[in-house]
Amino acid sequence: MSDLFEFKGAAGAGYAQPPPLLDEESARECIPEDMRRKALPHWPKASEPELVRHYTWLSTRNFGSDTGFYPLGSCTMKHNPRLNERIVQLPGMNDIHPLAPESHLQGLMAIYFEMQEMLAHCSGMDQVTLQPAAGAQGEFTAIRCIQEYHRSLGESERTEVIVPDSAHGTNPASATMCGCSVVEIPSGADGRLDLDALRAVVGDNTCAMMITNPSTLGVFEPDIAEASAIVHAAGGQMYYDGANFNAILGKTDPGLMGFDAVHYNLHKTFSQPHGGGGPGSGPIGVKEHLAPFLPKPVVEQVKAPHGGGIDGWSYTWVDPPQSIGKVQQWHGNAAAVVRAWAFYRRYGRELERMSEHAVLNANYLRHRILNPSPEQAEQIPAMPVDGAPAEVVKHEFTLSLSPVKEATGVTGRDVAKRLLDHGYMAPTLYFPQIVPECLMIEPTETESKEVLDDFAAAFLTVLGEDPDIVKSAPHTTPVGRVDEVWAARNLVLRHHSD
Ligand SMILES: Cc1ncc(COP(=O)(O)O)c(C=O)c1O
Repeated sequence: MSDLFEFKGAAGAGYAQPPPLLDEESARECIPEDMRRKALPHWPKASEPELVRHYTWLSTRNFGSDTGFYPLGSCTMKHNPRLNERIVQLPGMNDIHPLAPESHLQGLMAIYFEMQEMLAHCSGMDQVTLQPAAGAQGEFTAIRCIQEYHRSLGESERTEVIVPDSAHGTNPASATMCGCSVVEIPSGADGRLDLDALRAVVGDNTCAMMITNPSTLGVFEPDIAEASAIVHAAGGQMYYDGANFNAILGKTDPGLMGFDAVHYNLHKTFSQPHGGGGPGSGPIGVKEHLAPFLPKPVVEQVKAPHGGGIDGWSYTWVDPPQSIGKVQQWHGNAAAVVRAWAFYRRYGRELERMSEHAVLNANYLRHRILNPSPEQAEQIPAMPVDGAPAEVVKHEFTLSLSPVKEATGVTGRDVAKRLLDHGYMAPTLYFPQIVPECLMIEPTETESKEVLDDFAAAFLTVLGEDPDIVKSAPHTTPVGRVDEVWAARNLVLRHHSD
């Protein structure tokens, strides 16, 4: 059974519709003729067990973090605690309408306010908006705020955004969407930020620098405060791409490093489920001078009259005075915010434990892969090399498979695909682009030592396998190698039942 609509098994329908609110005659009166349905909808006919089997079967066609280890570097595919789901499904969260008046939304708004405060606290920022629906949209929103800030100072000629060559593609894309031009600077020989290269490009046209720390090589930039000073001295602003927050939360923060604006990927760091394009949430935090430009509205807390409200407080939507407008309908992805809030509240002041375990797991796995036992080493014609010459990495690491390709013809892509046959999601491939034949691996804090040991063993096994088997992998998945570019360019989003 590949398609519920083609399923002919059951005689009856496996669904129960609630009774209509209007009888047929009244409905006819209320709904204009040209808006009325001409034929009954084409519902599939399947009984409840058939429906359950169908969706269970469908869920096994893809790889998910519920079915196995998902070490997709830079994507932070951690476990999504089920407690978050229970909280977001409470009637006070699940049954509210975005157009409901403030007085009906006080519980949700209290959560919004607390989340704004908690995110500002962990990042060293002053004000947060929860509106953007993805990290990339957070980047766009922050650069728009920075542009308006420069304009408010009469400096609209500041149109250049500096990005290191290790940056995620969304950084230059967001800057370009804001109408800025992108100035790329090369990394130093050690993969780190090259301050001389930065000094050479800052100037009167500098709008901002966008950078993630630790970098996409998984390496902390020790010179970040100096980089901030260089950009600020030239009149530019510092933007922190928070996709790698999982490495530093509770240990240090972008405010201390000199950043003016940051985004948070709630769907990565704060365990909101993600993948397949959504649903995400990419709030941004800013320092005080950028706060007037944030999207509208943000939530503010006011003393409730006569000690009422929630613990004596009530909550209200407020439009920042020079707001860039709205970047998302309603109040952003509210369900994602609530789930992430639940996750954050469970850690509370212990948030740094999360980052400690994420960093420990990454370093342990890196060590296990790069130091095979003598028996394993004997089976392996060539070993990958570290993508960054750093003694300790943060929450992820990169490997260059170039020596393997040279010795056996097996590429990074081949190894990634073959890992699927061994029951593991393929690591991130060919990113960052400065590492040849790159695989980027991020285990996250939610995996056990046993899982990491098994993955390292599988990785080393693949390196020792017959190259022909690896080059033609995967062999056990529902589909083999697909033409991803063709698929992206030729989307089929509609079901055709005939
Ligand atoms: C370093 C980095 N920056 C930005 C992003 C963009 O985040 P999003 O996918 O939420 O738009 C990603 C996504 O993987 C990333 O890895």
